[in-house]
Amino acid sequence: MISQSPLDAAFVQNPYSAYDLMREQGPLFCWKDYGFLCSARHETVNDILRDRRFSSELPDDLAPATPAHLREFYAFESRSILAIEPPSHTRIRSLLTRAFTTRRINEMAPQVQALSRDLISAFPDGPFDLLPAFAEVIPVTVICRLLGVPEAMAPQLLIWSHDMVAIYQARRDRALEDRTEAATVAFMDYIRSFVAERRIAPKEDLISELIAARDEGEKLTEDELITTCILLLNAGHEATVHGIANGVKALLENGIHFGADEKENLNIIEETIRLDPPLHMFTRYAREEVTVAGHSFKRGEQVGLLLAAANRDPAVFAAPSTFDPARKNARQLAFGAGLHFCIGAPLARMEMVNSMPILLDACPNLSLAEKPVYADRYHFHGLEKLMVTR
Ligand code: HEM
Repeated sequence: MISQSPLDAAFVQNPYSAYDLMREQGPLFCWKDYGFLCSARHETVNDILRDRRFSSELPDDLAPATPAHLREFYAFESRSILAIEPPSHTRIRSLLTRAFTTRRINEMAPQVQALSRDLISAFPDGPFDLLPAFAEVIPVTVICRLLGVPEAMAPQLLIWSHDMVAIYQARRDRALEDRTEAATVAFMDYIRSFVAERRIAPKEDLISELIAARDEGEKLTEDELITTCILLLNAGHEATVHGIANGVKALLENGIHFGADEKENLNIIEETIRLDPPLHMFTRYAREEVTVAGHSFKRGEQVGLLLAAANRDPAVFAAPSTFDPARKNARQLAFGAGLHFCIGAPLARMEMVNSMPILLDACPNLSLAEKPVYADRYHFHGLEKLMVTR
């Protein structure tokens, strides 16, 4: 049993030494503050993510009634591919994978490079925060362009998105929940009217393609279509922003430089994601009675999977806390594994490899101007600010 408040400031700043203790407890340990079993070991985390006897949501008959003031948010969540199971999951995911082609992603690489150069040329001479100046701009611009949503809407989309994902943090109160619900309603309304516009005048974008898929085959309900677009907007930038910022921090702290070879650069980027990923914990529920790692899970029992702890498991990664630019990271779990493996991983990698090397090349003296501090929340492991000088 481990007692460790996820609200504890020192833990939020550096959870990795606590993860080492958790890993030593065995394949599963009880995290007292959450009140369920968790795993900090790579093998167990990976096994449960891939085990179809576990799902992301509680079985319907065990799910508590949703509070009225969060009705729209929970309805949104219940349609999100992150939460659903086959056959609905397969239907929506396959539509998305078809629309989210490698060609479409690679076509955006020159745009990411150009955007990075524009942002760099606007950097001030004195110390500045790299988050708003760089890391926050790239993912939201890319996902807006990909979906076809006007970039002028980006600041508003960020506000809605932050308010929606805020609900996943350990510290939540009624005011926060009300903001989440209001953001869900406003975001749904906006995308609904946008979908209506695109239906009349389709363009070469992902939303038009999803509309066509829906209208041709009735494969996606209108609400599923809207939910999927919002999920892509939320998931498409929140994690990538912190992937970029945590990554730049790690590169600067370890004095790592990129070279000319894109494959090697991708390897360096994968190492930044392994070492300090933006998303640390996902949970699963047993769909039936199931024994894993010596524990018999009851139907509906929850288990916490610590991706960031698994990524530093010495059983899989030699000297796991060291930044090794040449490390082979095929087994790192920052993007999950199994059925719900991140659909945006190729997009995130493309964004990172076409922005971070340009940043370090253009600013060879880039250095930390202050000790970076992580934002005071556990679920999204991202920096509050990243003060640098060029
Ligand atoms: C560094 C950036 C990113 C990280 C670390 C990340 C991480 C993850 C993880 C861990 C999961 C699995 C969740 C689970 O198993 O419950 C996931 C799922 C997902 N991600 Fe990402 N993600 C990133 C970027 C993106 C981007 C750019 C997009 C979209 C444009 C995206 C879209 C999604 C979607 C739609 C899912 C759900 C897939 C499913 O349930 O089948 N992600 N992501």
